[in-house]
Amino acid sequence: MSDSFYDATGTAAPIATDGDGFVLHADDRRAMLDERAHYEQPQAACIEALKIVQKRHGWVPDGAIVAVAETLGIGSGDVEGVATFYNLIFRQPVGRHVILVCDSSSCFLTGYDELSEALSQRLGIGFGETTKDNRFTLLPTCCLGACDRGPAMMIGDDTFGPIAPSDLSELLEAYP
Ligand code: FES
Repeated sequence: MSDSFYDATGTAAPIATDGDGFVLHADDRRAMLDERAHYEQPQAACIEALKIVQKRHGWVPDGAIVAVAETLGIGSGDVEGVATFYNLIFRQPVGRHVILVCDSSSCFLTGYDELSEALSQRLGIGFGETTKDNRFTLLPTCCLGACDRGPAMMIGDDTFGPIAPSDLSELLEAYP
């Protein structure tokens, strides 16, 4: 395949793919090529390329896997493997805010159960689900690097901890 995934003229206009309708914005393609230039092996730029897609689209659809592969000059299977391995790359649509609750050992011992149950009750969803208003997606995650502040969680790019169930009301209100 070829230039169908992006704007070959290099303008910023988004170009639709001929696959599942995914659009790789020309700016994103340029950013991926910049990343690729930093490495001897193009595979090394894969995670950053996927993050670029996710930043614009909120998740990484199938068409993006193909587009990233084309852009970096690597196989789609390689890209899919990286996307599957990293649990912060979302392969399904998510809500406006993704809540990641750490279920690793320190947080597990300091209140993971209470926190995750309170979140589930408050949002009316379980892990892996998105609220009906598309506001929040709730996901478990491994260590967030805030082990001394367990139980820890992230909302979007923000890390919080320790979080008590009674903190949730005020915390969630900040993410409309
Ligand atoms: Fe939860 Fe490290 S164990 S942040």
